[in-house]
Amino acid sequence: MVPAGPARVADPPLGPRRVTPSGARSRRRVALRQAMLDSTGHRGPYSSTLMARVFSGIQPTGDMQLGNYLGAVRSWVEDQHVADCLFCIVDLHALTEEQGPAVLRARTLRKATELLACGLDPDVCTLFVQSHVASHTQLAWLMECTASFGELRRMTQFKDKSDGREGVRVGLFTYPCLMAADILLYDTDRVPVGDDQRQHLELARDLAVRWNSRYGDTFTVPEAVFPKTGARVMDLQDPTSKMSKSRGTPQGRIDVFEDPAAITRKVMRAVTDAGADVRYDPAAKPGVSNLLELLAVATGSTPTAVAGDYHQYGALKTDTAAAIVELLAPLRERVAELDGDPGFVHEVIAKGAATAATVAEAVLSRAQRAVGLLER
Ligand code: TYM
Repeated sequence: MVPAGPARVADPPLGPRRVTPSGARSRRRVALRQAMLDSTGHRGPYSSTLMARVFSGIQPTGDMQLGNYLGAVRSWVEDQHVADCLFCIVDLHALTEEQGPAVLRARTLRKATELLACGLDPDVCTLFVQSHVASHTQLAWLMECTASFGELRRMTQFKDKSDGREGVRVGLFTYPCLMAADILLYDTDRVPVGDDQRQHLELARDLAVRWNSRYGDTFTVPEAVFPKTGARVMDLQDPTSKMSKSRGTPQGRIDVFEDPAAITRKVMRAVTDAGADVRYDPAAKPGVSNLLELLAVATGSTPTAVAGDYHQYGALKTDTAAAIVELLAPLRERVAELDGDPGFVHEVIAKGAATAATVAEAVLSRAQRAVGLLER
């Protein structure tokens, strides 16, 4: 029987939200955070009742597409005001496929710019780049030694992306272990993601539970959270496949910062289904159902409710295009402003990495102690 690690106390939230003007607020949050960390990095006794910890990530593999925004980032923007939030640009995950050094560097900074334009506020959440916090790769190894080959082989994203190729990178296979490490490093309570991440999240939970039962209570077991509408935005040209920033055709994908005329054109040319009736039925009518979901999410309604307003595909497409353009207009304006200030974006991610590292290093050393690695 392996002796259990020390009993775990909850870690601190990253701080209160929106109580003072931004600069002072941010300094107070950092001070509060530091005061709440004891020498082992555990949360103070009063803290975890204040706020849940939220963590999520996005790859810097292409321009942000509508599925990323509706499936994940929109929830992040809401969560940052009610939870202790860390959001990560997962550049190490992007290395599972060739990006090109200059492209990866540029896209990583661009992803931070896009996330700020979507409404992430660095005064109330922590935004950082995965490779800036070394603990991610360190814990990933411990996760690789916790997961089994069989578990990883069953991952549908690996099967889809590797497509039986011998030359596929090993990192693509072990990717879910790095993802579990990302999440577990922050004692995450909730992980807001799109539906395609469901299986990876289940694995992260299984690994946390397995570890805790082997080595004593070390990790918080995270819960995946999916949006009610928009959890799986489909490709406009192939509505049986999900919209993706790195796969499919540009005609099937709406980029969040794309110009309104292009968005309208793509929606108007979206593939619809046989039969002229407008009803929400993803299995029988995937094209129309996708448009109904988009319209519902952009107007704060439900797909079934909006379906009642339409009898023709043409009118549905016109209104869906207009609603998406309106939803994205303020984001486009903000990205143009932020593009002119890369210094600010660099500053945000530098500060974010420092904050994230404090939390992650404490949890990493807790895990290292629990598994029996000799302290230096
Ligand atoms: P990524 O970069 O593919 O996508 C980022 C987020 O966008 C969601 N998403 C979608 N949601 C609805 N419809 C779509 N068509 C659509 N396409 C993408 C994804 O579900 C995701 O929430 N493995 C992750 C990144 C990651 C991560 C993490 C996430 C690494 N570590 C830890 C959460 C926690 C990925 O590749 O996401």
